[in-house]
Amino acid sequence: MGNPKYKRIMLKLSGEALAGTNGFGIDFDVVNRISQEIKEVVDLGVQVAAVVGGGNIWRGRDGRSMDRTTSDYMGMLATCINALTLQDSLERMGVITRVQTAIEMREIAEPFIRRKAVRHLEKGRVVIFAAGSGNPYFSTDTAAALRAAEIEAEVILLAKKVDGVYDSDPRINKDAKKFDKLSFYEVLEKDLKVMDSTATSLCKDNDIPIIVFALDEPGNIKRALCGENIGTLVGNL
Ligand code: GTP
Repeated sequence: MGNPKYKRIMLKLSGEALAGTNGFGIDFDVVNRISQEIKEVVDLGVQVAAVVGGGNIWRGRDGRSMDRTTSDYMGMLATCINALTLQDSLERMGVITRVQTAIEMREIAEPFIRRKAVRHLEKGRVVIFAAGSGNPYFSTDTAAALRAAEIEAEVILLAKKVDGVYDSDPRINKDAKKFDKLSFYEVLEKDLKVMDSTATSLCKDNDIPIIVFALDEPGNIKRALCGENIGTLVGNL
């Protein structure tokens, strides 16, 4: 499989990734499998930061009849539940972790302090960033891009249900074509929805490449990290 190409990575997991096939809540078998994969990567000496979404519990857009900001704050709380779940699972496997939240809840976890997060990473701890960016109207993709820039991660691994970026939805169009590589410009111009446009622009402006790949396939985090062509690479090409 080769050696890891990156020393410090940001892993973005969607909330749905933790739900398994039932689409809602937390599937502990799935969480443990993801943790096992993260452990393998940590064991290679790679510094791992993670941002987890919250869509398996609550999505901002679920609250259609609600005040948008209230609904978004509920989504941020959902990411905290997922972050603690991942922390627990990783620590059961002997991986040392720290959770940092964008909204202070000191009894539960550390607040986000950039320099402390970097220090944790340097010590080989997995740092899980929770509560998104702490702001409504921003997605957890944007939080992942922001934190990746702040901690100087070399790449964002964007774990999805599909195995890359296609020119149309592969679940609907069987002739959909997968891209091996894409520029940020193309993603924005073609409105390809890899991440939302705020997150994509942040990565573009800060030159942080994104590898989009499927999480379902065991071993894929390590493969993506070792430069195997398993998904779509988005960058300033
Ligand atoms: P270093 O000693 O700097 O390497 O890092 P450390 O995280 O081990 O030190 P610290 O003494 O800050 O933290 C010890 C434990 O307390 C860790 O599990 C932290 O996650 C936790 N901790 C630190 N600050 C807070 C906080 O504000 N709230 C909560 N809930 N836990 C915290």
